[in-house]
Amino acid sequence: MGHLTSRDVYKKEKKLERIDKIIASQGIYSRSDVKSLISKKRVAVDGETVKSANIKVDPEKSVITIDGRELTVKKNVYIMLNKPKGYVSATEDRDHQTVLELMPADFAGRDLFPAGRLDRDTTGLMIITDDGVLAHNILAPKKHVQKIYHVELDIPVTEEMARGFAEGVELNDGVCKEAGLEITGEYTAKVTLKEGRYHQIKRMFGCYGAKVVELHRLTMGNLHLPDNLAVGECRELTEEELKLLQQQV
Ligand code: URA
Repeated sequence: MGHLTSRDVYKKEKKLERIDKIIASQGIYSRSDVKSLISKKRVAVDGETVKSANIKVDPEKSVITIDGRELTVKKNVYIMLNKPKGYVSATEDRDHQTVLELMPADFAGRDLFPAGRLDRDTTGLMIITDDGVLAHNILAPKKHVQKIYHVELDIPVTEEMARGFAEGVELNDGVCKEAGLEITGEYTAKVTLKEGRYHQIKRMFGCYGAKVVELHRLTMGNLHLPDNLAVGECRELTEEELKLLQQQV
């Protein structure tokens, strides 16, 4: 049997968090609601009524109940959104509505942000989370997380465009990585990107004199936008979906 080192003790202590902070972090109750729940003795940890907001517990090991009902403590949340047009991919914006305004009130207490950007007029799959590590990895150029988009142009899609995309289109900020272009109709295509530069798809097609009139993200890595998630709707990722996303990063 090994000895407990000071480092282990530190790690152990680090896992302990104040009960009021844990409950508030779930985004269901505000800080003042939590205070009131505790003072009214409605909160229990492992069956024992909590008498003070100062007590520290390990949220991974202890069972926290409110009025006898177990609180499922989630460290992070992962939400998929079918982004509508008109919303910016930011946490705040002076002039436009942000994708955060589409999040259910249940998550109001969490520090959510979009993991990646879609233009204001682009629709489709977007992940909104409070997990900075996952968000960073999704965006990290080294990870090459593939993203597939449905594109509609104002002029017919050509084989020349497809060849150019495969070779690497030259933009004013450098040559793009090879991209996939599958022609799906006279004016439509599926484009696969391994990087995410500013207005990338619009600028790539712009090199061929084409204007993108519709842009919709279908996938991020192995994660697909489900058919039953309408534009403007969002829901938490299932465990399998989260695994699919994490596998990639
Ligand atoms: N490329 C664009 O031009 N816009 C997007 O929103 C995404 C990729």
